Amino acid sequence: MSNLIYANRLERLKESLSKQNLDGIYITNLTNVRYISGFTGSAGSCLVTMDSQHFFSDGRYLTQSKSEVKGFQCFIGNESHLKMMANNSGLISGISIGFESDFVSVNLFENMKKAFPKIQWEKTNRMVEELAAVKDEQELDALRTAVEITDQVYKEVLPMIKVGVTEKEIANELSFRYRAYGDGEAYSPIVATGSNSALPHAVAGERTFAKGDFIVIDAAAKYAGYHADMTRTPVVGRATDRHREIYDIVKEAQQKGLDGVKAGLSCKDADALTRNHIDGAGYGEYYIHSTGHGLGLEIHTMPRLSAVSQDVLKENYVVTIEPGIYIPEWGGVRIEDDVIIQKDGCEVLNQTSKELMILN
Ligand code: GLY
Ligand code: MN
Ligand code: MN
Repeated sequence: MSNLIYANRLERLKESLSKQNLDGIYITNLTNVRYISGFTGSAGSCLVTMDSQHFFSDGRYLTQSKSEVKGFQCFIGNESHLKMMANNSGLISGISIGFESDFVSVNLFENMKKAFPKIQWEKTNRMVEELAAVKDEQELDALRTAVEITDQVYKEVLPMIKVGVTEKEIANELSFRYRAYGDGEAYSPIVATGSNSALPHAVAGERTFAKGDFIVIDAAAKYAGYHADMTRTPVVGRATDRHREIYDIVKEAQQKGLDGVKAGLSCKDADALTRNHIDGAGYGEYYIHSTGHGLGLEIHTMPRLSAVSQDVLKENYVVTIEPGIYIPEWGGVRIEDDVIIQKDGCEVLNQTSKELMILN
């Protein structure tokens, strides 16, 4: 990402600070540190005030931070980040500095108060996340590539699924290819066959595929830090009327979601698009999760498309639409795509077919 993009992110963050009457923010969540500074390492924090940006990390990241961090003065040392901040940031008494209350531990908060007793520390919530939810063109390109890899790998691995092969063997094939083509897997692939497919977040294990099994394959790539997320549910050997009935209901519900989402729609209403269809078909009690979530530098990020969400969809949010029906002890179906929210609808990124696939 270019220097200009980071300059723009800082400007938007400062607008948010000024709206909340804050003089600055101390960012400790690593994903948010990455979004605002470009740093991809495992230990770093940032102080952003109206007229300065400071980045803190330790000796392991001396070289990496020089090449990655954009628009910040970097302080690298083996003292605590707070100590480096106290020695270098010139923070004055009486100002209000925000912190990410969802992520700061009690211990860190105590240390912040000790290191800066005269600063007013103010809780903030989702300040960087709200900026990051609206994707710019380069982020959209990274997400498009992550989804392209996901589609391609699905096409390559699907023919390897045969009676007698294990869930884990297929999960390993998927992961290997995500790493070969991109950064690696976006999350541990879910390959859940037979009754395991009724567990929305099953862990791929030693179970072998058998005729009559639905297989929930929820697997995707990460590219340039950005996460795709896709689920398809083929059936092995033959599809009974029950397989077809449940599959069709989920497919129709997912289409209702794709057809209905657009900028300005509340995420609660977005959830209802898929849920009402499954409820109406009599399977509501088996739809045991929400409709979707935001994607970006994390696999699950804002907004949440759920019945209790307060979020509203905005242009260039990237979200999943992923209804499912899960019948305990029998099996389940989920169909999941990634979409870019637009003014009057959405662009569906995944190209993998959603017709019921029967694997022989
Ligand atoms: N792959 C996890 C999810 O769909 O949310
Ligand atoms: Mn998902
Ligand atoms: Mn998924």
